[in-house]
Amino acid sequence: MAALREALLAPSDPWVIGLDGIGGIGKTSLALAAILDHATLTRFEDVLWVSARQSQWHPVYGIVNAAHPALTYEGFVSRVLDQLIGSRAAAAMSPRDQAAHMRVLLQEKPILVVVDNLETATDQEALLPSLASLANPAKFLLTSRYSLREAGAVYTFSLDELPLTDALDLLRYELQNRNLLTLAAASDVELAQTHDVTGGNPLAIKLVAGQLSAFPLSRVLDDLRQARGTKVDKFYRYIYWQAWKQLDEDARNVLLVMPLVAEEGGGLHQIEAVSQLPSAQVTDALQQLIRLSLVNVRRAGRPDSVVAARFQPLQYSSPHRVLFAGRSQVASGRAAEEN
Ligand SMILES: Nc1ncnc2c1ncn2[C@@H]1O[C@H](COP(=O)(O)OP(=O)(O)OP(=O)(O)O)[C@@H](O)[C@H]1O
Ligand SMILES: [Mg+2]
Repeated sequence: MAALREALLAPSDPWVIGLDGIGGIGKTSLALAAILDHATLTRFEDVLWVSARQSQWHPVYGIVNAAHPALTYEGFVSRVLDQLIGSRAAAAMSPRDQAAHMRVLLQEKPILVVVDNLETATDQEALLPSLASLANPAKFLLTSRYSLREAGAVYTFSLDELPLTDALDLLRYELQNRNLLTLAAASDVELAQTHDVTGGNPLAIKLVAGQLSAFPLSRVLDDLRQARGTKVDKFYRYIYWQAWKQLDEDARNVLLVMPLVAEEGGGLHQIEAVSQLPSAQVTDALQQLIRLSLVNVRRAGRPDSVVAARFQPLQYSSPHRVLFAGRSQVASGRAAEEN
């Protein structure tokens, strides 16, 4: 938060700031906290929020689809203008005039534009240069489940899972909120089992707390381990299906063999060996997986040990199962997306 704050408050660079990481890791929450910060509100004369999100996971209703289509540049312009001059005035202009007018307004005073869930835009990579060209004096804060690092102009913070102590604090807090006081008072050792299945993902932790209000810990852990319960299954499907749809055949194959690579990750050669794919194809597949935050890259240690076989943030076999489920639903069209 401190580093993000500093980037936002800087009077010059960086103009385009990104938060990336897997679904539920806390990108939107961090963006919200940053824009509600007093110093940010003082630094900018206006803060605009554009959500590119098409659907979201809801703890009670499962996946809820939003009415609007995937964000295009025109859609972005019109949503910014709606906030700057009101939707009626914006609607009276042609798309071309809207774009020109927005550009002028963004030059006039320091404005912060948050674009949440940029990964659901029709083409994140095409949209990025357009946004960058609008910056200065305006700043942009983007959140995306896909990596923003390759897009050169984005000053990116990648969000990681919560460390164990923070994860336990959050779990206890959620349990207390549900009046599950006995469970909240359980030992660290007992509650730490949830960390293995949630991987420290805050949304997953909240899900676990929700399940614990209905079922005993052992049952919930078991469910999560096997992705057996419907909602749990939907939750995983939601996160992974979005990413799975983006992968080509090689990347899917590489992802599916990742559990066969050592827990702590493996080098390129190891992945080539288990996937039985030529080096160039593995490299290309890994680039796709890295972009989608489906595998982590660690540069520490041996120089060739760059790829950690870690599905984020649910580091066990369920994503694997879910991906298989996703695959079997490819043939049945949009069913999986709409579930
Ligand atoms: N550091 C944190 N401490 C406590 N709760 C958190 C934290 N980060 C996120 N949460 C909670 O976890 C849930 C998911 O967070 P959030 O919606 O910000 O994730 P996200 O990364 O934006 O996900 P998505 O990719 O689906 O948009 C929210 O309910 C949020 O309140
Ligand atoms: Mg979000």
